[in-house]
Amino acid sequence: MSEQHDSPIKTPQQLVWIVVLSFVVPIFVIVLLVKYVVGAKVTGAGSDAMTPEAIAERLRPVGTVSLAGASGPRALQSGEAVYTLACTACHGAGIAGAPKTGDAAAWAPRIKQGYDTLVKHAVEGFKGSAGVMPAKGGNADLDPVEVARAVVYMVNKSGGSLKEPEAPAPAPAK
Ligand code: HEC
Repeated sequence: MSEQHDSPIKTPQQLVWIVVLSFVVPIFVIVLLVKYVVGAKVTGAGSDAMTPEAIAERLRPVGTVSLAGASGPRALQSGEAVYTLACTACHGAGIAGAPKTGDAAAWAPRIKQGYDTLVKHAVEGFKGSAGVMPAKGGNADLDPVEVARAVVYMVNKSGGSLKEPEAPAPAPAK
């Protein structure tokens, strides 16, 4: 009975091969597995999936904000925003003879003049018996449509029922 057990490795050369292979084979398997997992995203030459445009498109956040340039029409503010910005100083508390927002009695005779007159007075300014209504409430850079929206907002809070003006049609493209 031999003490030497029966190994398949007979020569030092075989031992070297076994050692080398026991390193190389697992690494090869791991590389294959990684390729398999990542493989879906790896695209071959000739694909346009990696062009800057395609990458930018994939990275693009949902929804974009486009600010109208100085040449383009700017976004018009809502009646409430304009009112808070430019009108509430006088009309909020009824200062300097301004008819107070919400005071239906003070507004009723003015509302009777009609939308066009009210807007005209608000946009161009108006000196009445109660005091002076400054043009656009003193904010010259407001769009007339914004002022009209503020008039509608204020009047509708004061017993009126006006319809908010539509935004003006965009200028035809040149
Ligand atoms: C500096 C104070 C002041 C500010 C700011 C102001 N108003 Fe007036 N507004 C007045 C006064 C005063 C009157 C009343 C004038 C009168 O009848 O004698 C008036 C009247 C009006 C009228 C009634 C006009 C009419 O024909 O009876 C409208 C509509 C109006 N304002 C809209 C606005 C809007 C819209 C804004 C904001 C964009 C604004 N006002 C900001 C002082 C102001």
